[in-house]
Amino acid sequence: MRRSEGDLVNIIDGAVRLEDLVEREALGELCRSFFVLFGIGVRIFSSAGALLAEAANEQAICALVGKEAAGRVACSETVGDVKALVPDSEDVVHPCFTGAQYRVCRVVYEGRYVGRLVIGPYLPIFVREPPTSLLAVIPQGDSEAIKFSLLQMPKAKIDTVARIATHLKSALDLILFSGHRALLSSQMHLASAREGYRALEEKNVALQETYEQLKELDRLKSNFLATVSHELRTPLTSIIGYSEMLGEGLVGTLTDEQSEYVRTIRSKGEQLLGLILSLLDLTKLDMGSMHLQRRRIAIRSVLEEAVSSVKPQALKRTVSLVLEQRGALSDTHGDPERLRQVFINLIDNAIKFTPQGGTVSVIVNEIDVRPSVPEETPGFALLAASKRAIEVRVADTGIGIPQRERSRVFDAFYQVDSSSTREFGGAGLGLSIVKRLVDAHEGGIRIEDNTPSGTIFVVELPSMGDAT
Ligand SMILES: Nc1ncnc2c1ncn2[C@@H]1O[C@H](COP(=O)(O)OP(=O)(O)OP(=O)(O)O)[C@@H](O)[C@H]1O
Ligand SMILES: [Mg+2]
Repeated sequence: MRRSEGDLVNIIDGAVRLEDLVEREALGELCRSFFVLFGIGVRIFSSAGALLAEAANEQAICALVGKEAAGRVACSETVGDVKALVPDSEDVVHPCFTGAQYRVCRVVYEGRYVGRLVIGPYLPIFVREPPTSLLAVIPQGDSEAIKFSLLQMPKAKIDTVARIATHLKSALDLILFSGHRALLSSQMHLASAREGYRALEEKNVALQETYEQLKELDRLKSNFLATVSHELRTPLTSIIGYSEMLGEGLVGTLTDEQSEYVRTIRSKGEQLLGLILSLLDLTKLDMGSMHLQRRRIAIRSVLEEAVSSVKPQALKRTVSLVLEQRGALSDTHGDPERLRQVFINLIDNAIKFTPQGGTVSVIVNEIDVRPSVPEETPGFALLAASKRAIEVRVADTGIGIPQRERSRVFDAFYQVDSSSTREFGGAGLGLSIVKRLVDAHEGGIRIEDNTPSGTIFVVELPSMGDAT
């Protein structure tokens, strides 16, 4: 049964309809059980006169009358009258020309008229002979046969029928009450679900708008960063270039103090340039405008170059730096420039966060990668072919990264300890670039403990599987 909001208002207001309150099936069941019990037909009509349920059989006398034209007319007149009868308050007994009767009862729910109940036809027990009104419509009929048919009709005392009608109305009232209650609660449920859904929809729209605004803001921020970084790079390159010329004495000899100042200008300039280049990379990665020049490469040579370019930092901090290859290695498919950047960042961090006398090891080998198994298909693991990957582990014996920080260190500008900028330099951009670059190579990166102290960054890159 589908209802509109208007129906709900009606139901709550009390303007209910019989057919809305009770399933026709339940009304039919009520009529049938009444009919089985008393043998008298019963029909239930809506307030608008529609038949909602009935249980009755054709009476022998009705069949007999139906054979005569005058009988059919008289019959349909009676039925029409009964159907149209709307009792004011009390039940109305309507006579049939056959001598039988119909009892028409008003069905009221919570003081409102909701439909009618028609009980009959039944023969009042005082009728023992066919009345003249019956004989008049079957003028040629065999009077004995007519009487016989008439007396087959269920017989009842008028006050018994009145009592039965009262019981029937009470039973109907009970059904209406529980139907009304169920209907109200289901409608309330529906209304609250609808309201919840509407509120959710509104929130969704607001959320979508906010998301679009944020996306736009993010795009503007990336554009701004890209422009600013680009504009800063050119003058900065000049500053570094001129300080280099000054330092090399190309424009005259400098005093020791002047040389010291020029060296500071140059090193701060280079630091700033590094930051600007990182920002440029990040914005390019965010905007999807960084294009990798991927080709078949040997990871070993990339790692050697990365190690040798950070060697001076390791020497300066007296941290030993080792590169170790375990077993034969296949080539990988990547952009050597960008992969070098990945490992320089990781090794640079490892050196930076390792105290003097510590060790940073770069270990490379080739491994089998088990495909991730969907929970619902455990057998999948047996069928899926395992893949080969180049695994690079950058392990240090430094301060380590607490478990809860491991997913956050890949966020841009995130540093575990904000004082690290002052102590070690850097802006917290390195790992965010590393993560995006590794992802762009269809690789993965994770952090492990290096017991008893330190961190291991594990990078996996796709292997071309051609190791010999
Ligand atoms: N090997 C490591 N050991 C301990 N902490 C680390 C290590 N590598 C990274 N971290 C932590 O993760 C943070 C983020 O690293 P990330 O490389 O992104 O930034 P950064 O090194 O501080 O600055 P930048 O790389 O921009 O110069 C670091 O500040 C540090 O707190
Ligand atoms: Mg870093």
